[in-house]
Amino acid sequence: MSALLSVRGLTAGYGGPPIIEDIAFDVQPHEIAVILGPNGAGKSTVLKTIFALTSIASGTIDFDGTDLARCKTSALVTLGVSAVPQSSNVFPNLTVDENLDIGTYAAPPADKVATHEKVLHLFPDLRAKLKQPAGELSGGQRQMVAIGRALMCEPKLMLLDEPTAGLSPAYLERIFDLLLDIRKTGVTILMVEQNARQALQIADQGHVLVNGRNFASGTGKELLADENVRRSFLGGAAT
Ligand SMILES: Nc1ncnc2c1ncn2[C@@H]1O[C@H](COP(=O)(O)OP(=O)(O)OP(=O)(O)O)[C@@H](O)[C@H]1O
Ligand SMILES: [Mg+2]
Repeated sequence: MSALLSVRGLTAGYGGPPIIEDIAFDVQPHEIAVILGPNGAGKSTVLKTIFALTSIASGTIDFDGTDLARCKTSALVTLGVSAVPQSSNVFPNLTVDENLDIGTYAAPPADKVATHEKVLHLFPDLRAKLKQPAGELSGGQRQMVAIGRALMCEPKLMLLDEPTAGLSPAYLERIFDLLLDIRKTGVTILMVEQNARQALQIADQGHVLVNGRNFASGTGKELLADENVRRSFLGGAAT
């Protein structure tokens, strides 16, 4: 099987010294891949670089035969990549429905009504809140709106930066269950997560970054069992 996303030798930053250096990893079609690592390791920068929001010094980002390192953000959505940023990811003054609709602007789906219905099927809680401003929702519901909006363009690959940040353990489980449901619909997911142990339980592949470089990669199971990774990032003994 050939990778949907293949990152090689990626070095990028924000105009000064590089923040990520020589990063390499693959994401296979229909998998959930998770990027882990300490605060400031460059996890968000990797996602932002794939989404053409940083300055690339070298490397390639092959997505389905196109090098995203040469693309502008506006072109990415048309190619089938959507993103949910780490914070401020809904328009608080717009209703839930308007927030979802914005997801169709850059790359309208073939059948907008059917896609809208599919998204509400994944997030039934949002159905009763469609006319409510997104700013009035709970953190977990807002995250669902942000993920729902990213799905409205029928992406092949969804980039998610800390989808469970600030959520209760119960909501975290709901979001992770939703990601598994989303994967079943054929969407490939690349996400950054702080809740490393739980994320590795649902992930097909994990990639640990330290100081802007690859530290370890493996299946969720392999990384959960890896002594080095466990000691440094998972808080000690295996459970
Ligand atoms: N817009 C920016 N301009 C300049 N430097 C930035 C910018 N965004 C991030 N950085 C720097 O890049 C480094 C990596 O940041 P990044 O946000 O990628 O880390 P992270 O692994 O996502 O951390 P966290 O777990 O805290 O979200 C940090 O030193 C940060 O200060
Ligand atoms: Mg981050």
